[in-house]
Amino acid sequence: MRKHIVAGNWKMNKTFSEGIDLINKIINKSEPLQNVQLIIAPPFILTSEAARLAMNKNIDLAGQNCANHDEGAYTGEISARMLKSSGATYVILGHSERRAYYHETDEIINTKIKLCLENSLTPIVCCGEVLEEREANKHFEVVAKQIKGMFQDISSEAFKNIVIAYEPVWAIGTGKTASPEQAQEMHLFIRETIKNIYGSDLSNNVSILYGGSCKPSNAKELFANPDVDGGLIGGASLNADDFIAIANSF
Ligand code: PGA
Repeated sequence: MRKHIVAGNWKMNKTFSEGIDLINKIINKSEPLQNVQLIIAPPFILTSEAARLAMNKNIDLAGQNCANHDEGAYTGEISARMLKSSGATYVILGHSERRAYYHETDEIINTKIKLCLENSLTPIVCCGEVLEEREANKHFEVVAKQIKGMFQDISSEAFKNIVIAYEPVWAIGTGKTASPEQAQEMHLFIRETIKNIYGSDLSNNVSILYGGSCKPSNAKELFANPDVDGGLIGGASLNADDFIAIANSF
């Protein structure tokens, strides 16, 4: 059985006190949820306090990124080991904003995946095409290339601890969601691509999340697809009611 996951990517939003307020609201409203794993990825400053508040609740903490080095003189960076020590169990890697604004390549993301796995953190690995690629009908080719590059030399044993997020870049923060058919078609393609690398057991077991303007009004029809196992939520995760309503959409 694949895990249902709803993960909130707060991006660069919320001060410390605003973040604590939001975490407490989410914790209070999340109590009845049983069949879905909730994950929140606040900015780093909140990770340890959020992990403390969410202890023994059905909520795990994630980093939004980590360094591509183990430790040392990398001013401003945060390592996988530090994240783990602050209470995170997941890390979002390869988000399109990291790719676009910080020039992250599949090779860099591959290094980060390895460092996370070595530190017992589960990477939520993002892929997805930009609008021009979809319009040129290159979206399958682009996503296949990202997957192959990011999972280079990752063993089958290690791959068991991976979550994938498909996030069409044209749908992120734009209010323009992929249709349920577009999401299902790409999720199935990703599962087939994984099957070709790792075999059917692992491809059947990997959770593939959809991200890009997912909200309470469209989550149900997106999650109803057989290959959509949850969502990576940006904007709507900043509101506790919306985030929990999305998690209740299975
Ligand atoms: P959005 O962001 O839900 O605001 O579109 C999703 C994401 O970037 O993970």
